[in-house]
Amino acid sequence: MRLALSHQGGPTRVDGDVDASDILREAFEAAATESPDTLTHNIHGYPARMHPAIARTLIASLSRPGDQLLDPFCGSGTTMVEARVAGMLAAGVDLNPLGLRVAEIKTQIRSLDSRERFLVQLKDLALRSEMRVRDREPVVAPVPRHHVRWYAGHVLKELGGLWEEIRTVPRTEDRRAFELLLSSVVMKFSYRRSESDTTGIARKLRKGLVTEHFYRRGLGLVERWAELESVTPADSPEPWLIEGDARRLPKLLGEPPRADLVITSPPYGGTYDYVMHHELRYPWLDLDPANLERYEVGARRNLSGVGGAGRWERELLEVLRSVGAVMVPRGVAVFLVGDAQFGDERVAGGRQLRDLAQRAGFTYIASASQPRPDFTGRGMRQEHLVLLERQAES
Ligand SMILES: C[S@@+](CC[C@H](N)C(=O)[O-])C[C@H]1O[C@@H](n2cnc3c(N)ncnc32)[C@H](O)[C@@H]1O
Repeated sequence: MRLALSHQGGPTRVDGDVDASDILREAFEAAATESPDTLTHNIHGYPARMHPAIARTLIASLSRPGDQLLDPFCGSGTTMVEARVAGMLAAGVDLNPLGLRVAEIKTQIRSLDSRERFLVQLKDLALRSEMRVRDREPVVAPVPRHHVRWYAGHVLKELGGLWEEIRTVPRTEDRRAFELLLSSVVMKFSYRRSESDTTGIARKLRKGLVTEHFYRRGLGLVERWAELESVTPADSPEPWLIEGDARRLPKLLGEPPRADLVITSPPYGGTYDYVMHHELRYPWLDLDPANLERYEVGARRNLSGVGGAGRWERELLEVLRSVGAVMVPRGVAVFLVGDAQFGDERVAGGRQLRDLAQRAGFTYIASASQPRPDFTGRGMRQEHLVLLERQAES
C-alpha cells in the first residue's frame, strides 16, 4: 500500500507569522514521527493521501467550538475522519467517486452490533466464494473487454464470484463496504505493476488466494471500525461528502458562506493522473469517473505539453476564488501543496499558491516546507503547508 506522501520528514523551513508557522511545523513533525496507519485511514489505497497527523494537528490547533471544516479535495477522506474524531461538522468535496466511496466507509461509526453483523456476512461471503471456486461455477465479471487482459482467467472468475455474492448483501451500507474490500484487493491480483505504472507483471496466484485476502482485509476493517468508534464522540456529526468540482463550491454548497476552516491538499500540478490510478477499480464498484476525466485539475495528461504551466496557474486561481467564496470572513485555510512539474519545468508550489491566493482575496500568514525525494530523478522536491486568512472584504 502506498504510504502517505508526507511521512518522510526532513528539515522544516518556515516563513511568516511565528505562532502560525509553529503550528505548521508541528503538523509536519507529527507526520514525520507518527504512523499513517491509524484508525480507518489505511483501509484502501489512495494516491498522495494526506498524513493523518497533519489533519489532526491542524484541526486541534486551528478550530474553535462550532466551526465547520471544508476540504474541497477530500480524496479518500483523511480530514473527514479526523473531523469526525474531533466531533466537528465537516464537508468534503472531490471529483473522484472512488475517493468519496473510500471516505464514506472510513468515516462510518459502526456499533458493536453492526460490526458483528458485518463479520457474520463476511464469513458467509468467503465461504460461498470458496465453494464457487471449488465447483468452478461460471460467472460474468463486470469488467470491460479491454480490462480482461489484466487478469489471469481463474482470478477474474474468483473476483467475479465475490462480486456476484456481494450483490446479494441486503443492506446498502454493508454492501458498499464489501464492494470497497473487493476494490482494495483488485490491483494486487491483477497483472498491472501498480496504480501509476501500466506495464504488466507476471504474478503466480493460486486459486482461493483472492478470497483469503478479501476475508483478511474484512477482519482488518472491522478492527479499524472498532478503533474509530472508541475515540469518536457519540454525537459527532456525519461528514457531508459531495461529488463535484472544487471550482464550483458556491453552487455545490449553497449560500451563505459557511466554512470557518479549510484544510486541503489539491493535486500537485502536473504530477498525477488520478483517473488513471483507479482505472481497474471503477467497473467493480459500478462508478463512473467521466467527470474526473473531464474536470480534474493539475492532471499530468493535460499539463505536460506547451502552455501547461499557464493552464495550471489558471486552474489554481479558480480553485482559490471558489474556496474564498464559501469561507466566512477571517476564516483560515491551510493548503498542503507540492512543487508542480511540467515536462522539465518545475514550479515552487508554496510560492505560487501564496501569490495566487493574494489575487483571490486571501492574506498570506505563514508557511512551512519540507524536502521530499523525487522518484523521477530530478533532485529533491518540496512539500509546503501554506496558511492563509480569508480577507474580511473581498
Ligand atoms: C492530493 S489528492 C487529495 C488526497 C486527500 N487529501 C486524501 O488524504 O485522500 C487530490 C485530490 O484532488 C481531486 N481532484 C482533482 N481535480 C479536482 C477538482 N476539479 N475538483 C475536486 N477534486 C478534484 C482528486 O480526485 C484527488 O482526490
